[in-house]
Amino acid sequence: MREKAAFQKRFSIVKAELDDVKKLVEAETLCEKKPRSPQTIKRDLQLPNAVLNLIVSENRSVEGYVSGGIVLDEFEIHSLGINPRFRRMGLATRLLHHTIKEVVQQRVKRIFLEVRRSNVAAQNLYKRCGFEFLQERKSYYHDGEDALVMVRETKDHSIYGE
Ligand SMILES: CC(C)(COP(=O)(O)OP(=O)(O)OC[C@H]1O[C@@H](n2cnc3c(N)ncnc32)[C@H](O)[C@@H]1OP(=O)(O)O)[C@@H](O)C(=O)NCCC(=O)NCCS
Repeated sequence: MREKAAFQKRFSIVKAELDDVKKLVEAETLCEKKPRSPQTIKRDLQLPNAVLNLIVSENRSVEGYVSGGIVLDEFEIHSLGINPRFRRMGLATRLLHHTIKEVVQQRVKRIFLEVRRSNVAAQNLYKRCGFEFLQERKSYYHDGEDALVMVRETKDHSIYGE
């Protein structure tokens, strides 16, 4: 526990800026089957409802990200990833909690996401962060894999002390 806390001190959470696009593409390449292009990330970043937070090291290398969009009182998470070198140290949990807190301040009541059926790591993470299974979407992904839709109500967000 103390080890994780000391490790966490090496990183901070910042809002993504246009200057971060190249590093974000590199980070997504390590985490995603289909990383977004720099053009798509730039466009997403400039959307008024976009939320894009980064885990950065002391020299501002991008080691994790979460991105999504707010529509009315709902927030949809589109992607989340942590550099494989730094996994299982609580960084995704911290990034999610930070982001939940941020969107709650923007009056978000419900958070949705889709996760591959085979992605047990991410499902465990989301369950630990208060998400519940809502429904499945058969053959949702290009390769035919099912998606599971998970949801989290935000009314109990104050359990997170960050
Ligand atoms: C899923 C992912 C973001 C987790 O990041 P992380 O920083 O390692 O997550 P955390 O350290 O905060 O883990 C929190 C909990 O999630 C669960 N978890 C994380 N990785 C896991 C794994 N490989 N296997 C099983 N459970 C796992 C555990 O319950 C873990 O708690 P514990 O370490 O105390 O057991 C990371 O594995 C990743 O980037 N994967 C590739 C991209 C991806 O799948 N994104 C999600 C798309 S929906």
